[in-house]
Amino acid sequence: MINSYGKRFATDYLKANEIAITNIKQIIDTEKINCDFAFQNSYVYTTKKSELATIKKEVESVSSLGFPCEFVTKTGLPFDVVGAVCFKNQAQFHPIKYLSGLVNSITSHGGKIFTHTIATNIENDPDFTCVVSTNQATVRSKFVIVASHYPFVNFPGFYFAKMYQSTSYLIAMDTKKTLFNGMYISASDPIFSYRTAKFKGKKLLLVGGGEHKTGHPSCYADTYGMLEQEAKKFYPDGEVLFRWNTRDCISLDKIPFIGRYSPSMPNVFLGTGFKKWGMTLSCVASNIIVDLICGKANKYEYLFKPSRLHPIKNRDELKNVLVQSANSLLFDKFKSGNMNFDQIQNNSGSIVEINNQKVGIYKNSDGQIYAVKPICTHLGCLLSWNDIDKTWDCPCHGSRFDYMGNNIYDPAFKNLDVYTSPSV
Ligand SMILES: Cc1cc2nc3c(=O)[nH]c(=O)nc-3n(C[C@H](O)[C@H](O)[C@H](O)COP(=O)(O)OP(=O)(O)OC[C@H]3O[C@@H](n4cnc5c(N)ncnc54)[C@H](O)[C@@H]3O)c2cc1C
Ligand code: FES
Repeated sequence: MINSYGKRFATDYLKANEIAITNIKQIIDTEKINCDFAFQNSYVYTTKKSELATIKKEVESVSSLGFPCEFVTKTGLPFDVVGAVCFKNQAQFHPIKYLSGLVNSITSHGGKIFTHTIATNIENDPDFTCVVSTNQATVRSKFVIVASHYPFVNFPGFYFAKMYQSTSYLIAMDTKKTLFNGMYISASDPIFSYRTAKFKGKKLLLVGGGEHKTGHPSCYADTYGMLEQEAKKFYPDGEVLFRWNTRDCISLDKIPFIGRYSPSMPNVFLGTGFKKWGMTLSCVASNIIVDLICGKANKYEYLFKPSRLHPIKNRDELKNVLVQSANSLLFDKFKSGNMNFDQIQNNSGSIVEINNQKVGIYKNSDGQIYAVKPICTHLGCLLSWNDIDKTWDCPCHGSRFDYMGNNIYDPAFKNLDVYTSPSV
């Protein structure tokens, strides 16, 4: 960040996130939310000698911003590291318990939450009242905050050309071995994240990794399988109790979008692109958006302006931006393979050509066939089959649909067209 945007920018980015940790702790204390909150040390580690200099440089860079961090060679991990950056007093908490506390707090103060209500469009009245169309009703309001993960209004804003989604996988293991304290993430690929969580009075091991762009092909062995293999090296008695994956939005310059949605919709606000740091960054977003609505200056607003045009100084980053940007607009990116209808195994799926039309076929474990039109209802990209979750995923902006064509993840909100007969 220092290389790309300079020291002042990096210092303010860091401070905004540190303030968010204090804010979250205050909310937890004031609202008496029981969410296993603990201050923990957080480590970025390497096991490769070739990365030692980079780790040391990181310690130097962070220290130069006036933030206390330490170079260490000993951690709580069950394997040796060559070096690690240790950040003290970071926050660990159970996000669902925390959100549940926030929900109680909102409703007990008279706020209302409407679930199963999909917003489909936002327009401005001439007097700048916002009109939100949903699948249940039309809502008019002076201000609107879009916190829908990936923004669902394509024009204006054009966020589909500025963001992608990335999926990561996690396993939770029960082990008799004593588990470490702290939170750990490796410095380079393959990324592994080690943490613990409380579950029914026990401390479980969480191991994360296997990241890939949402909608790009992957397999069990490269995701859950790889995590399990890695964890078993150090916890051979470990029993996997849970496996899950989730995605987050990544902006092309890796800085979140927080602020006004577009100059032509001045009363609509946005918080997205949290790049897997949404616990603190969502709190940063709340503080900035509240100040904007109340007409107050916020000293961190400039960092995240959605309308920004930062020159990206880092060459590798610039190359990444150009590749991702082109990818987000290649609507027919994944060509259907050579598979024909009969080659599709039970409990698997693929795109096949039938009567010159692309058809997405899934055969369940009994051989029953589900056929969908494999074209994303967001902006029309060709979907790809995800054999881990048995879903149709979009390589452009990360929308996902189950094998029956039901939309399960944004930014799309409409279901796929379904063929009632595979003969089409
Ligand atoms: C593997 C993994 C590990 C992570 N670990 C960490 C971590 O250690 N620390 C950290 O800080 N962050 C972490 N994150 C990131 C964090 O989980 C996310 O940044 C955060 O949850 C994103 O919050 P959000 O509110 O933007 O989106 P969401 O939590 O996805 O909420 C968006 C909501 O909007 C709803 N919605 C979508 N479209 C519409 C619509 N059209 N109308 C109405 N509602 C709609 C959705 O149903 C959903 O309820 C991690 C993420 C991943 C993937
Ligand atoms: S998510 Fe945008 S086209 Fe599919």
